[in-house]
Amino acid sequence: MKLLVLGSSAGGGFPQWNCNCANCSGLRRGTLRARARTQSSIAVSVNGDEWLLINASPDIHAQIRANACLQPGRRLRDTGIAGVLLIDAQIDHTTGLFMLREGKPLDVWCTPQVRYDLSAGNPIFRVLEHFCRVRWQPLQVAPPTSFTMAALPGLLLTPVPLASKAPPFSPHRHDAHVGDNIGVLIEDVARGRKIFYAPGFGAMEPQLEPYLAEADCLLLDGTFWTDDEMIRLGLSTHTARAIGHLPQSGPNGMIELLARYPKPRKILIHINNTNPILDEDSPERAELARHGIEVAHDGMAIDYGDAT
Ligand code: MLT
Ligand code: MN
Ligand code: ZN
Repeated sequence: MKLLVLGSSAGGGFPQWNCNCANCSGLRRGTLRARARTQSSIAVSVNGDEWLLINASPDIHAQIRANACLQPGRRLRDTGIAGVLLIDAQIDHTTGLFMLREGKPLDVWCTPQVRYDLSAGNPIFRVLEHFCRVRWQPLQVAPPTSFTMAALPGLLLTPVPLASKAPPFSPHRHDAHVGDNIGVLIEDVARGRKIFYAPGFGAMEPQLEPYLAEADCLLLDGTFWTDDEMIRLGLSTHTARAIGHLPQSGPNGMIELLARYPKPRKILIHINNTNPILDEDSPERAELARHGIEVAHDGMAIDYGDAT
């Protein structure tokens, strides 16, 4: 299996269009050693031709341009994207669906809660009825139920519920439901390889233990370095945890959590533009390196093509 990081940034991207924080202005001025990043999405394939898009970012056009494997290569109208899986209903993970409207009906895997939010709060699915149409494929998370996709044989997917929050526009924003937010275990059955992907990981929960312990690779929430990052910058009144993102530093943070799992390769993804780890020369980035934690970038590839 091969996993491509299409976009490694959180909502807003890096640099964010209206942001003058040290990171965004430093990147624009060329005074910061850092890479620009598009909004949150990955793609996974077993055969290299058919790809599952996991999250549809508003930057999807740029991401398709940057990744030839997703481009039309066979017929007059064509795509390497065989299906789409959504881990939540957030804008940075779903509005790219509009950009796929010229194609065939879209097979979209998501929970009933996400489908509801994309039919009511932000009715992307209803709008797409006037274009390509969406064929909803339900994800069952209680209990997590593994499944395969006809278009991607050899790939086993397990959606895992995460304690988090529905997006601000959700009719049940303040009334959390199981299925508002998930992680997904991505398994190459023939090669026995497992990647656990959870860009919205708000807190450790007992049922997540086996996924973290047994994966070959973790792609986990890298949104914020500190819990009060946005508050200290005067950009928000909410802590990282309150909006469903476990910060990296501090007691019970992501660094402490990951230290408990010796097996997996550890990669942070969905990085907010305010996060100091984007600066490759920062002490925070060095601290991650000391803990064996990597930072995802656009174009990063995880290749488990080898048979084990
Ligand atoms: C989040 O995950 O909290 C988002 O990046 C918010 C957004 O896309 O606006
Ligand atoms: Mn997000
Ligand atoms: Zn910024």
